[in-house]
Amino acid sequence: MYTTVQVHDKHFIPYLSEAVIQEKIGELAAQINTEYAGKRPLFLAILNGSFMFAADLFKQITIDAEISFIKLASYKGTKSTGQVLTAIGLDIDLHNRHVIIVEDIIDTGKTLHSFLPQLHHQQPASVALAILLHKPEATEYPLHIDYCCFSIPNKFVVGYGLDYDGLGRNFKEIYQLQG
Ligand code: IMP
Ligand code: MG
Repeated sequence: MYTTVQVHDKHFIPYLSEAVIQEKIGELAAQINTEYAGKRPLFLAILNGSFMFAADLFKQITIDAEISFIKLASYKGTKSTGQVLTAIGLDIDLHNRHVIIVEDIIDTGKTLHSFLPQLHHQQPASVALAILLHKPEATEYPLHIDYCCFSIPNKFVVGYGLDYDGLGRNFKEIYQLQG
């Protein structure tokens, strides 16, 4: 049943159904299958939030492709570098590879904005972003998004991999904060 859910202290209303999500992912995959034929792209999924999206997207990829999963951890850099992001689990040489970053949501854009320069150090052949959700009104750091399933308003969402304080990732649908 697809009704209002409670996660911790907050109530969430149905927003994107399983069918709507899966249909959009199918469209995105079809586009990638065409544009990356013969390029053997490497999907780089950013954990934890993207695990469901990455799995469903990858199931719809029919061309030769690889997938790997990384976690971004932030630590305090020098005064000039500020907050630095490091990729845990990045064990594939990206040199000359066509990389497709798979991420659950771009909110401010800070996470990817600070991580992308590190990827480019390895001189990949290309880097594209495949994003499930984008909140354009919240985005402060400019990013070129190549593939995006849904542009959504600046409201908190849970489900389909996205959590509210650890819970809600298991929902098949996406819910929006009520009010
Ligand atoms: P950014 O660096 O501001 O783009 O933040 C991206 C990260 O914030 C995502 O990978 C999510 O983990 C988290 N996030 C942003 N908005 C939401 C939301 O509405 N629901 C759940 N997590 C969110
Ligand atoms: Mg995330």
